[in-house]
Amino acid sequence: MGTEEQSSQKTTGKVAPATGKLGVMVVGLGAVATTMIAGVEAVRRGLAKPIGSLTQMGTIRLGKRTDSTSPLIKDFVPLADLNDLVFTGWDIFADNVYEAAAHAEVLDKELLAKLKPYLETIRPLPAVFDQYYVKRLNGTHIKKGKNKRDLANQVIDDIRAFKKTVDRVVIIWAASTEIFITPTAVHQSIEAFEKGLDNDDIAIAPSQIYAYAALSEGVPFANGAPNLTVDTPAMVELSKRNAAPICGKDFKTGQTLMKTVLAPAFKARLLGIKGWFSTNILGNRDGEVLDDPQSFKTKEESKLGSLDYILQPELYPDLYKNLYHKIRINYYPPRGDDKEAWDNIDIFGWLGYPMQIKVNFLCRDSILAAPIALDLVLFLDLAKRTPELCSIGIQEWLSFYLKSPQSAPGLYPEHDLFIQSMKLKNTLRHIMGAGLITHLGLEYYD
Ligand SMILES: NC(=O)c1ccc[n+]([C@@H]2O[C@H](COP(=O)([O-])OP(=O)(O)OC[C@H]3O[C@@H](n4cnc5c(N)ncnc54)[C@H](O)[C@@H]3O)[C@@H](O)[C@H]2O)c1
Repeated sequence: MGTEEQSSQKTTGKVAPATGKLGVMVVGLGAVATTMIAGVEAVRRGLAKPIGSLTQMGTIRLGKRTDSTSPLIKDFVPLADLNDLVFTGWDIFADNVYEAAAHAEVLDKELLAKLKPYLETIRPLPAVFDQYYVKRLNGTHIKKGKNKRDLANQVIDDIRAFKKTVDRVVIIWAASTEIFITPTAVHQSIEAFEKGLDNDDIAIAPSQIYAYAALSEGVPFANGAPNLTVDTPAMVELSKRNAAPICGKDFKTGQTLMKTVLAPAFKARLLGIKGWFSTNILGNRDGEVLDDPQSFKTKEESKLGSLDYILQPELYPDLYKNLYHKIRINYYPPRGDDKEAWDNIDIFGWLGYPMQIKVNFLCRDSILAAPIALDLVLFLDLAKRTPELCSIGIQEWLSFYLKSPQSAPGLYPEHDLFIQSMKLKNTLRHIMGAGLITHLGLEYYD
């Protein structure tokens, strides 16, 4: 009889324990980063709950449904404890994390006041920045160097200095979206990239300089924005060579989260889609940066991909071949971080009869992104300690969190949230030597 569980293939070694301090270096101490850091401190002090974080609140079923064994994920896999996280970061503004959080206006003043003494101690290191890559920003807290190689070496020095104070380090990009860049010859190998650093190649944006520095130091790197960053052959090669796991791109938070929940449902029921119009208003600094057409283009590409991959129009031409997909992001300062998103979906059913669905999501951008950033940090640190994961480069099992997930060359990315969730949990079961869950379950009817 087919069982619901499938024994996992042998894992190649034990996951190392999460002993000591985990240093978290955040590139960009803006709305998302400060909401994550302040949130972690609030949770550590018992002031709030880590809602939205799978690593903190999620459970994982082990064995058969009749076994009733569902431990917390953090009790099943050895994750760093929140009390062991130590934060630092880089920003183009010198504001400490308290000032930056107050400026972002995501968390209320009373909570920030309670956390102020701690948040004030976290001050950004000077950033690698060039306005060519983010047109709407102009910072003052910036590294100077004779070329991009020199800047990368300065970031490496920052990482080495921080490493002396903690046991392990993870880096996450939560900085502004850079202009759209397509990979060039400089991105094809580590050697070409290093020459590009020496020659100040224009296709090497600041985010790639941080990524190069992190991976050179064997430090895992997550990319929360849609920039190229670690999504190039050169960075994948460096990631594998130095056992520094990577993942990207772009936190999957509001509208795309909804899209990757709804689209699989339509496809599963063979409902056709004629058009999908998505628009947003957003008034935070991210919205201001995305108001620049070149940064918007990077975001647009990241948001557009999901539907095509989920719906597979080549397999279902009658349902999805002529789908018109349009995305707009409008900068509207009065709303600050409280984004409002509208989706109009023109679907059709039996015999082609049309129907419409409207989704109006009044969300809080950084409240949705902060737990994702935290989970990515904790899971990348886990990957670094897992012999089977640390040297494979891209951590596709973390696609669950990402709008435009990186995947192996020639392999299409998996966007369906529920497949992503199953993949993530089965990866955790696998590395711990537990049986995988297939959901077959004929044995219950034996
Ligand atoms: N909030 C969300 O729901 C969400 C979802 C998906 C992706 N993102 C992405 O996450 C990123 C951060 O979003 P946010 O709302 O916190 O934006 P934000 O503007 O509040 O913060 C970004 C910070 O990065 C800094 N920065 C810019 N370039 C830098 C550089 N080269 N080095 C160091 N610091 C630099 C800025 O000064 C700013 O403080 C953006 O790229 C955004 O598109 C956010």
